[in-house]
Formats: sequence, structure tokens, C-alpha cells
Amino acid sequence: MEINPTAKTLAEQGVTDAAGVVRLFDDVKRQFGAELEAKQSVSQWEELRNAWIGRKSGALTRITENWLKPSPPELKRAVGQALNELKAHVEAALEERRAAIQAAADQAALAREREDLSLSGVVRPLGSRHPLRQTFEEIERIFLSLGYSVVAGPEMETPYYNFEALNIPEHHPARDNMDTFYMAGPFAEGAQGKPGASPLLLRTHTSPMQVRTMEKQQPPVRIIVRGKVYRRDNPDATHGFIFHQIEGLAVDTDITFCDFKGTVEYFVREFLGPKVKTRLRPSYFPFTEPSVEVDATCVFCGGKGCNVCKQSGWIELFGAGMVDPAVYGFVNYDPKKYSGFAFGLGVERLTQLKYNINDLQLYFQNDVRFLRQFA
Ligand code: PHE
Repeated sequence: MEINPTAKTLAEQGVTDAAGVVRLFDDVKRQFGAELEAKQSVSQWEELRNAWIGRKSGALTRITENWLKPSPPELKRAVGQALNELKAHVEAALEERRAAIQAAADQAALAREREDLSLSGVVRPLGSRHPLRQTFEEIERIFLSLGYSVVAGPEMETPYYNFEALNIPEHHPARDNMDTFYMAGPFAEGAQGKPGASPLLLRTHTSPMQVRTMEKQQPPVRIIVRGKVYRRDNPDATHGFIFHQIEGLAVDTDITFCDFKGTVEYFVREFLGPKVKTRLRPSYFPFTEPSVEVDATCVFCGGKGCNVCKQSGWIELFGAGMVDPAVYGFVNYDPKKYSGFAFGLGVERLTQLKYNINDLQLYFQNDVRFLRQFA
């Protein structure tokens, strides 16, 4: 095919009959087919479309101008018909190609933008409540159901609240087994009317909150106190310089030892299970009279005797007793009118018994291998 047959008239190309016209159009059609084949992108396709059916300078326009219009009357019909066919063919083929190019582009975009759902996400491990926290919540639940409310108090205390007002005067031997951390400062102002400034200390038990609560409110009192307490102990499997207590105090008219015993037994059964039995053993605390240690049948052997209970079948749980009337003197309660009981639970110890934990230090080492077991 000549370089641009559409630029010349039929006469100039020596085409004089219908067969020549058909041949000429066949050539053009083949030329179009070859060009179309080579176009892969949208922009190439657009170029091709303009080159062929562009209104001003497209090949079809040139054929109309150069072949059809100047053709002799006897060929006009053949040229017109062939031109229509060519036009229909070019348009259909262009449209088909456009759809194919578009589909391929869509396909490529889809592949490019596809989310890779096989990629693993960011793991956010769930934490769990510390075993001591769980024990706190369990004990609080039990006493809340008995009508107690929960209070908290300062960890830095005055000697007055930690000792004196609890009927533990200076040089009382009971201070010895609560080896105390004293602060270098600040000093307690006047120690509530006592002569001389005395240094603050870290409370050795939660019992000071008994006094602070009774100072503020008249009976009936039913509170539990939760918190940290401090003693100068060297850390080992059963000692730490910090541990946790829950204090209990109930004061009202007509509270008897029976109420005390019933409350203690109810609590122990709720906490350790219905099979556990309790017993009260005489003991001594300066702020309770009588004082007892509450024992429970060993949770590990059921009372038969094992290593944990040293073959006795019993395990010591906590100290308690009826509030000593001397304490009422410090808070201006009338000891003839009111009576009550108090108890001090060691949270680590109760947790230890519930989950059979053999080392106190595990609570404070933050080792997830330990903590995970309580999730
Ligand atoms: N505060 C005592 C202790 O820490 C426990 C206790 C509390 C005893 C209340 C009797 C009544 O050892």
C-alpha cells in the first residue's frame, strides 16, 4: 500500500472500476487492522481514533473528501457503500479495543490495590488483674454484701494513730514485733496534743483507720479498710517490707461475740469454700479484748494434716477480737453503750492459701509467667 492513498483521488491512483474500489478499501482496512493491533494504552488508542475517525483530519474524512466526492458517478455507489462498511468496521473495532484496554487497566488497578488479608495484624495482649487485686475485690464483695463500706487512709501515719490511740503506748512490747520505718521528716505536728514532735512513720497495719473513722463518725460503724502496710522485714518466701491488709471494724449497740464469730465464719466460708471450718484461738492485741487468731481447716489436706499445715490440720488465717474499751476512750465513744469487733486480714496470706502460692516475692516481681496464671 502506498504511503498515504487517502490523500489522492481514485483517478490519481488509476482506480476506475468497482473491483478496484473494493481492493483499495481492503488495503485500507488491513492497514487499520495492523495499526489497531499495535495499540495497548488508552493514549495510543486515542491517537489512533483521531487518526481514523477524527472529524477534521481523520482517514475516513479524507476518504470522503478525496475518494467519494470526486469519484465518477458510476463508481459513487460502490465507494459510498464501501465507505459505510469501513466506517462501521472501524468504529466497532475501536470500541471493542477500548473496552479491552479499559478492562485490562481495571484488572491491573484491582491487583495493585488489593488488601493483603493474609498479613498478620498487630497483637495487643490483654492484661489481667493482679492476684492480690482479685483477692481485694473478692473480700470487698463479701463485706459489701454484709453492709460494710470500703474506706482508705494514709500510708504515712503519726505514731499516735498507728500506736497510741490503739492502746500501744511507747515502750510497749507490742511495738517490737512491728518493726517500723520512721521517716526522716516531716514531723507530725504536736502528735495530736501529745507533748513533743514525733516523726511520721509508714503504717505497720491498717488499724489506724479504725481510730480515724471513729473520730469522724458515731456508731453504727461498719467499714473495711484496704491498703498497703510496711514493716522492716528482710524479704524471703514469707516476709516482705511491704504487704497488704484489709481491716474490718463493726461498732454498734449490742454487738456481741456471737456477731463477731458469725461474721468471721461467714467470711471464711465465702472466701475459702463451704467445707472449710473455723476455730478461734486465744491471742493478744492491745486494741482488742478478748483477742483471737482465726484458724481454718487446712485447704490443702482438708484437715487431715499435711506439710503446709505442719500435720495439724489447721492454718492460721488472721488476727481479730472485740474492740478494747480503752480504744473507745481515744475517740469519745461511750464504752458502756457501744461494743464491736475488729479484724485484720493479710491479703498476701489469703491469696497464698487460695491459690497455693509458695513464695511471697512472686507477687511483686512482675513476672508475666506468674501473673498470666490468674487471667
Ligand atoms: N492490726 C493487727 C496486725 O496487723 C491485726 C488486727 C487487726 C488484730 C484488728 C485485731 C484486730 O497484726
